[in-house]
Amino acid sequence: MTSPTPDISLREITADTVRTICDLQVLPAQGAFVASNAISIAQAYFEPKAWFRAIHADQTPVGFVMLSLDPAIPEYCIWRFMIDARYQHLGYGTGALRLVIDHIRTLPRATEVLVSYVPAEGSPEPFYRKAGFIPTGQVIDGEVVLKLVL
Ligand SMILES: CC(C)(COP(=O)(O)OP(=O)(O)OC[C@H]1O[C@@H](n2cnc3c(N)ncnc32)[C@H](O)[C@@H]1OP(=O)(O)O)[C@@H](O)C(=O)NCCC(=O)NCCS
Repeated sequence: MTSPTPDISLREITADTVRTICDLQVLPAQGAFVASNAISIAQAYFEPKAWFRAIHADQTPVGFVMLSLDPAIPEYCIWRFMIDARYQHLGYGTGALRLVIDHIRTLPRATEVLVSYVPAEGSPEPFYRKAGFIPTGQVIDGEVVLKLVL
């Protein structure tokens, strides 16, 4: 049984957990905001800048995050981020985002974190705004870019 305030962790995905992580899904209405985890993991296989982890609440896998990390520029972006529909609005996304930001802070010359979202009804904009992200003014491939200054 999970405690009232579960411990959120970012964990490497293994042969034992990959099917479970690929089965995590957002609500049908959120499908335009994030690719499936199976697609993300497949893309990561071909992208050296990709860094991905499962999000766990205590021992339960609840979500997935993938970053694009390029210390050479430096440019650190949240590429994919999702909490399974069953576990949304429990603070897990906020907890995982904090861990992601902590991780990026440890990387060379990290001064900001970038994210972009599809501007449509139900977009994650309020979630990122609440965490301190602000618009950069850029729209890339139809996605609004936000940044968090570290
Ligand atoms: C965005 C997302 C990761 C948030 O995860 P979460 O665990 O539900 O977030 P939290 O419980 O920590 O939410 C904190 C606050 O952010 C805001 N928020 C969270 N999800 C939101 C959403 N989908 N739309 C609008 N506001 C949202 C709310 O203010 C929320 O507080 P509340 O629950 O008291 O209303 C999750 O909704 C999700 O997976 N969405 C679909 C995929 C997606 O859009 N990913 C982002 C791609 S860039």
